[in-house]
Amino acid sequence: MKHYPRTDLAKRYCDTLSGLSLISSTKNLFLAAPRRVGKTQFINNDLIPEAQSRGWLVIYVDLWSDQNKSPSALICEALHQKSKEMEGRLLSTARSAGIAGGQIGAGEFKLDFTIPAEDIPTSVSEAYQQLKERAKNHTVMLVVDEAQQALSSDDGKKSTFALKSIRDTSNQQIDQAGHDFVLVFTGSQRDKLSNLCSPKTSAFYGSSVEEFPLLDSNFIEFFIYAVNDAIGSNAAKKLKRESTLGAFQILGCKPDLLIDALGKYMLEPIEHSIQDVALNMVRSAAFEIETTVNALTPIQRAIFKTITLNSQNNFAPFSSNAISQYAAELPENTNLTVSTVQAAISALRDQSLLWQPSSGKYLPEDSSYLAYFRSR
Ligand SMILES: Nc1ncnc2c1ncn2[C@@H]1O[C@H](COP(=O)(O)OP(=O)(O)OP(=O)(O)O)[C@@H](O)[C@H]1O
Ligand SMILES: [Mg+2]
Repeated sequence: MKHYPRTDLAKRYCDTLSGLSLISSTKNLFLAAPRRVGKTQFINNDLIPEAQSRGWLVIYVDLWSDQNKSPSALICEALHQKSKEMEGRLLSTARSAGIAGGQIGAGEFKLDFTIPAEDIPTSVSEAYQQLKERAKNHTVMLVVDEAQQALSSDDGKKSTFALKSIRDTSNQQIDQAGHDFVLVFTGSQRDKLSNLCSPKTSAFYGSSVEEFPLLDSNFIEFFIYAVNDAIGSNAAKKLKRESTLGAFQILGCKPDLLIDALGKYMLEPIEHSIQDVALNMVRSAAFEIETTVNALTPIQRAIFKTITLNSQNNFAPFSSNAISQYAAELPENTNLTVSTVQAAISALRDQSLLWQPSSGKYLPEDSSYLAYFRSR
């Protein structure tokens, strides 16, 4: 599907990051929205071009891009790659000016362009310093997609502290031209992302997570226009605004699902609207969740349900209060000890149903389970 531009939103975020917004100003943004609603597409097609048009140097890193590499290694690589790119730019400027090193404009540069691949810095602050030497005249924006992944390891947590420290140092050293370091973190679960800034022990304590806005009725108009144009003379199948918007909302404002619904709708009898198709899709997704929950052992199910329903509370999963809540979901004679709870939680983690943001805390991997258990 053709990209639906969200330029105003990108401008608003960049204004906020550069302190130009009248409403809010922060040097780090935490944007959360559910899976598949367009976070990455927005970053790459709207936010980064807007930042670049302001002369900012943008580094993008997706912490899910390589599960075999640690978050810190991925951030270091991204910074190093940009550093090499800047070096290349400086070199070609120098060559075309017929100089071999020294000073271009206001910024000094080093012609240290033979860094071999194995010299990728191993610390985030070193990688940033290396880049900053070659990017003196720029505001640097680091975008960390799927940032919650940084919490999955000690290495990742350390890298968030390193970024916070770079952020604070840049804030103090901000030059006359206002060149700065700004951070954007995105994630698909608000609960997960907020672990980067809400516990007192987190690197960005005091910042808050913003809800990234979902695509709205303007996107649907853009979509209908493109589809109806492609449908051509098949008037009976032309999309109507109300039912298409209804379908999109039923499907959680996810463009991929709307396209699936469109494919199915084209094969349906003409009396069925795209909204009817979307409703059927949602019913079968609920059936899948139910099947997964039913396949758990009774103890696993009781624990999963209780932890999920308490995911927004300060819940200690091995406390006596927790164990009595699990017991209330189970037959009276069930033998429930800390070690049976441990075994069940470990099985739930193996099935990717629970994840552990910090020691002693568990959350559902997928927030649809919260809606499911709440509706029971
Ligand atoms: N502005 C847009 N215009 C057109 N299509 C879009 C737009 N935003 C998102 N989409 C489509 O929606 C789908 C999901 O987008 P994207 O991958 O950006 O979502 P995401 O929120 O980053 O998902 P994930 O949580 O899996 O990383 C993609 O197929 C993408 O092409
Ligand atoms: Mg994404």
